[in-house]
Amino acid sequence: MKTIIEPFRIKTVEPIRMTSREERERALRAAHYNLFSLHARDVMIDLLTDSGTGAMSTEQWAAMMTADESYAGSSSFTELAEVVRDLTGYRHVFPVHQGRAAERILFQLLGGPGKVIPNNTHFDTTRANIEFTGAQALDLPAVDAHDLSAPRPFRGDMDIVRLEAFLASAPPGSVPIGLLTVTNNAVGGLPVSMANIAATAAMYRRHGVPFFLDAARFAENAWWIHRSEPGFIGRSLKSIVREMFRHADGCLVSAKKDGLVNIGGFCAMNDDALADRFRQLLILTEGFPTYGGLSGRDMAALAQGLREVLDPDYLAYRAAAAQYLAARLRDVGVPTVHPPGLHAVYVDARAFLPHIPPALLPGQSLCCELYCTAGIRAVEIGTLMFGRTDPDTGSAIPAQLDLVRLTLPRRVYTQSHFDWVIEAFADIAARRSELPGYAIRKEPPFLRAFTAQLEPVPVPARV
Ligand code: F0G
Repeated sequence: MKTIIEPFRIKTVEPIRMTSREERERALRAAHYNLFSLHARDVMIDLLTDSGTGAMSTEQWAAMMTADESYAGSSSFTELAEVVRDLTGYRHVFPVHQGRAAERILFQLLGGPGKVIPNNTHFDTTRANIEFTGAQALDLPAVDAHDLSAPRPFRGDMDIVRLEAFLASAPPGSVPIGLLTVTNNAVGGLPVSMANIAATAAMYRRHGVPFFLDAARFAENAWWIHRSEPGFIGRSLKSIVREMFRHADGCLVSAKKDGLVNIGGFCAMNDDALADRFRQLLILTEGFPTYGGLSGRDMAALAQGLREVLDPDYLAYRAAAAQYLAARLRDVGVPTVHPPGLHAVYVDARAFLPHIPPALLPGQSLCCELYCTAGIRAVEIGTLMFGRTDPDTGSAIPAQLDLVRLTLPRRVYTQSHFDWVIEAFADIAARRSELPGYAIRKEPPFLRAFTAQLEPVPVPARV
C-alpha cells in the first residue's frame, strides 16, 4: 500500500463550531484585525501554532492518572529524567514549565552586556531572552536559507564559514555559549543536517565555546536526516537523535512540540558547575528541581510523549500531511516554501499578493482573508512580526520575507480539514488582486505582532 494513513483512531472528539462569513468579519473587526485577539471558539481550523496544541495518546492520559505529585523526589520526575538521559546522554535534567523558562535561566547565567550568542537563527523568545540581559543574539543562517525554492532540504543549517569568521574575530570571553536550532523554525521549519551539527560542534569546540541545541523539534529534524542525508538514510531514528545530542554539551527543549504535550519543557547538560548554578535559579523562579514548574502528571505525560514521538509511522504520517497540503496548494497556484518542513507549510504571501507592497503587510492581508473566507487561523511571519518602524522617518522597514505559516498541530486535523484549507486558498487565488493592504494603528514597543491593532487600507494603484 502506498497510502499513508493517520496511524491512530479517534476516541475523544471536540466539536468545531461552524460560523458564517458575516460572523467572522464581525469577530475580526472586534479583534482589530489581529488574529491573536480572536476567541478560539470563533476559529474553525486553528493553524496558529504547533506549540502545545497537539492531541495526547491514550497512554499519555493513562500515565497522568498514575503520576506522582510529590514535591521532592517525584517518581514521575525520575521517569522523565531517565527518558531524557536515554535520548540525550546528558547527566543533568531540569524540567521547566516551557521552553522560554529554560532560556530565561540559561541566559541570565551566561548573557549580559558585551556578550554575543550565535545561532543558525534564533527563535523570537530566545532572541528576546538574550537581548533582555544586554547580550547580542547573532543569526548566521545558511546562504541559501531564504531561497524559497532551492531543492536542498537542509537549508536550516548554520553558515559555518561565517561562524568561523565570527569566532576568530570575537574578543576572548565574549561568546559564553553557542546555539543551533533544530529544526530551524524561523527558516521555514527546515532541518539541519548531521554534517552541519558536527561542523558547528567542531567549530565551537575549537574556540572553547560550550554548545547547546535548541531542540524543540528534534524528532522532526531526525526524520529528515533519516530520510535524506547520505550515510544516515534508513538508520534508526533513536540512534540519529542520540548522535545529534552527542555533538552538543546540552539542550534547551520546548516540550510543547515534539514532547507531544500541552505544556512543559526541559534543559539538560553535562557541565556540573553550570548545572549547580542553573539549579539555584530554577528553585528561585520555577520550582524544586524535581518538578521545575510542572505537575507530576505533566512530567508523566511528557515522558510518554518522548517515547511516542520517534515512532516511524507517526513521523511518516506527520511528513505526509505537510507534503499533501504543500503539494495541493502549489497545484492551485500558491507559492510555498519547498520542501515543506514537518511542522508547517509556509506560504510566500509577497509572491502570492504582488500588488500589496511589504509595508502594507501582504502576509497579514492573506491571514485576514483566510479567516473571513473559511475560519482558518494562520500566523503572519513577515513584516508585521519582524519589520520595524524607522524612529526617525516613521516609514516601515520591511522584513526579509513575508510568509504565512500554516502550522500543523500534532495528531489533531485529518485530510478533510486540509482539503478545506486548500479550497479556501483556491477561492482566494481567483480574487487575490482585490485583497486590501493593512496598516498598524496601535503598536506596542516590542513583540508587536501579538497585540498590535490594525485596519484594512486600499492599495495604491501602480504607476
Ligand atoms: N525555540 C523554538 C525553536 C521554538 O519554536 C519555540 C516556540 C521556543 C524555543 C520557545 O518555546 O513556547 O515553549 O516557550 N515556538 C512556538 C511557535 C511558540 O509557535 O513556533 P516555548
